[in-house]
Amino acid sequence: MAKPIILLLAALSILYTASPANAATTSSPSSSANIEFIEASCSATLYPALCVQSLSRYATSIQRNRSQLIKTAFSVSLDEAQSTKAIFASKLNGVKPGGMAVVKDCIEQIGDAVDQLRESIEELKSIGQAKGSGQDLRRLHISNAQTWTSAALTDISTCTDAVAGEARDGGLETSVRARVDGVAQVTSNALALLNKFGTEL
Ligand SMILES: *[C@@H]1O[C@H](CO)[C@@H](O)[C@H](O)[C@H]1NC(C)=O
Repeated sequence: MAKPIILLLAALSILYTASPANAATTSSPSSSANIEFIEASCSATLYPALCVQSLSRYATSIQRNRSQLIKTAFSVSLDEAQSTKAIFASKLNGVKPGGMAVVKDCIEQIGDAVDQLRESIEELKSIGQAKGSGQDLRRLHISNAQTWTSAALTDISTCTDAVAGEARDGGLETSVRARVDGVAQVTSNALALLNKFGTEL
């Protein structure tokens, strides 16, 4: 019984060490410095552990670039919001009548948040394009991104509250509630990183 498991572990560890992505990170002398950069930046957020966890897999592309860090945080938030919206949509058929209104509202609210996060990301892209055209224009894009993201957070928390109130009788699983909390937290983190380091963009 023990032998096949050991063989499996050995095979897995060969696969793991041979994978190109892993080779790239281990061969890079700066990879632990990249993680430290993420950890230090994440200390400005409300959910630093989640921040580090969600960003460290992108350490190689973030390097120690604050602009890259913020853009990655927003794309994590958008991805999470999109997949959570899809999870709610998939619940439409399975949920009890009591939970139906919550599920429908959440699909709409998270859908709005997805649109608002996309707007934020567009504003962040515009900062890059506005380079050289003055501080005022860059500040305007940052401020727009902050406004869109705050609106997204408000929409997400409306869903969070509704889900917390209705989940038990409506038949929504804890895992679904946890997903909405997760979206709220990664979005809060992205906004905190933008608020703290936006001037470096
Ligand atoms: C940081 O990343 C941005 C893209 O997000 C890029 O435009 C910029 O040149 C990078 N800065 C450095 C110093 O590499």
